[in-house]
Amino acid sequence: MTILAIESSCDETAAAVVKNGVVLSNIVSSQTEHSAFGGVIPEIASRAHLRMISTVVDQALSKSQCTLTDIDAIAVTTSPGLAGALLVGANFAKGLAMRLQIPLVPINHIEGHLYSGFLVSEQIEFPFVSLVVSGGHTSLFYVTSFHEYSILGSTRDDAAGEAFDKTSKMLGLGYPGGPIMDKLAKDGHPDRFIFPRGMMQKDSLQFSYSGLKTAVRVFLQNNYPEGNFHDNIHNICASVQEAIVEPLVKKSFNAVKRMKVNTLVVAGGVSANSRLRSELLRFAQKKSVKLYIPDIQYCIDNAAMIGFLAEKKIIEQKTPDHYMSYNITVNSSALRSPKK
Ligand code: KG4
Ligand code: ZN
Repeated sequence: MTILAIESSCDETAAAVVKNGVVLSNIVSSQTEHSAFGGVIPEIASRAHLRMISTVVDQALSKSQCTLTDIDAIAVTTSPGLAGALLVGANFAKGLAMRLQIPLVPINHIEGHLYSGFLVSEQIEFPFVSLVVSGGHTSLFYVTSFHEYSILGSTRDDAAGEAFDKTSKMLGLGYPGGPIMDKLAKDGHPDRFIFPRGMMQKDSLQFSYSGLKTAVRVFLQNNYPEGNFHDNIHNICASVQEAIVEPLVKKSFNAVKRMKVNTLVVAGGVSANSRLRSELLRFAQKKSVKLYIPDIQYCIDNAAMIGFLAEKKIIEQKTPDHYMSYNITVNSSALRSPKK
């Protein structure tokens, strides 16, 4: 089966061709228009998707050496995300599926991330714990099959990526903040400054990052009222990064222990963070837990994960009733209720 997948939920316009579980092409166009604003501007995102979507789909088809006649179904992200951004991808996919008279499969973006580990290893065994950590989401899941999972914990406020992006903006470093701070932190000491870690009660699998943002603002006001913190930028970045990473690592392994599994799968843009990766690896080795983190191209927002999951859903006949009616809609809300 050959699936053309489209993803446009936030600020990446992406298309991929997935055939029998193998990724033939994975094209991602990241919008740079938002960097001047320190965050994603929804209106700008929708317009940029509209400009790029046909080019990105053409590139995905040509890289996969497929034509539209080879495509058996179209998969598209329909939730969660920015409504206007989702609508661009959903309408493009709908128009194409109607023209080709092939099935249209709506996919939840977070579910896409949840199973993206399978793009690098088919050896992953259910059940497992998954940490999905991005600019919009920070959640732990207990995953029992391709269509069954439950949420163990989520952020109460900001997502981990948002914490990177907002502190980066405060430090005048630019957007997206995660990769910039990751790089600067490499020459700093993670324990030079102590910033608060949210929700660290022993049995809590919830996250909280809004206190960190405030703590960094107060720290800068008290210690550098003139704004001359640049000599210490490496230590500040390393210390802020540590306050973001430590709860992610500790809670992930607490969840693994609580659910009595021995596999942890990590996904989402923040899983590109080098400190997060090395700490997860260190803990995994210490606790003999199997750790799967997809390649960076599958960690960030991408359409390969959408196509892969759509194929699984078609095979397991878990596609919605309106599969061939093209009657899809988009839903911007953050997380759907967990499935039983
Ligand atoms: O999954 P993603 O591409 O988009 C969504 O938010 O869904 O994740 C983007 C987020 C941004 O907040 C960005 O700052 C963060 O991932 N990020 C990183 C790194 N690379 C991207 N955060 C920390 N370290 C990185 N190396
Ligand atoms: Zn994402």
